[in-house]
Amino acid sequence: MKKGYNIAIDGPAGAGKSTIAKQIAKKMNFIYVDTGAMYRAMALHLIRKGIRPADEEQIAKACAEADISIEYRDGEQVVLLSGENVNPFLRTEEVGNMASYSSAVPAVREKLVELQQRLAAKADVVMDGRDIGTVVLPDADVKVYLTASSATRAKRRYLELEEKGEAADLAVIEQDIIDRDYRDMHREHSPLRQAADAVLVDSSDLTIDQVVERITALCR
Ligand code: DC
Repeated sequence: MKKGYNIAIDGPAGAGKSTIAKQIAKKMNFIYVDTGAMYRAMALHLIRKGIRPADEEQIAKACAEADISIEYRDGEQVVLLSGENVNPFLRTEEVGNMASYSSAVPAVREKLVELQQRLAAKADVVMDGRDIGTVVLPDADVKVYLTASSATRAKRRYLELEEKGEAADLAVIEQDIIDRDYRDMHREHSPLRQAADAVLVDSSDLTIDQVVERITALCR
């Protein structure tokens, strides 16, 4: 079987990975795989079961029976939890925080990494996450580590919330980002780090178009 062309994009929360990856996928006619959404769907499953973020044993148990799959509808990734489209519930702070804890549990990672590898084996994909270049697709054709300063990322998140009419405190958002980075980078299993062969792209002073252009140039 021919292996698909694989682009791996890793980096901290708020660096613009999903926006960039979606545009690249569109431009190159690839499938966009949002692995964060899979960790979030698992987190939602755990929240619904009333499991606490610190309860690793229960998380591992509940993870084994979780039925998570991916479908593409009109080019959009849809995450199914026991057949239910849970996309509308994934982008809350509660789910994001639970995902940050539960994604550190090895049983959760094993299960979702396998699903991700299966998707990438059969299609041309641009996949974003934290461990794509290091663990999920170590042989990816192009690897990018996309980052931006915590101040820039906090500002972007602040503007996003403001646009939705939600009250927000810039300092609290930035501290939240710093805490989440720390957890993602210091966990024991598959911590967030730049793969040795990944290209570093700092989006702090770049427009979306400039970042997309830089990455598609790497593919050429
Ligand atoms: O990118 P995101 O905010 O949707 O990710 C949610 C959480 O899942 C985040 O805390 C990091 C974790 N995650 C991970 O550990 N590995 C990935 N490949 C993707 C996300």
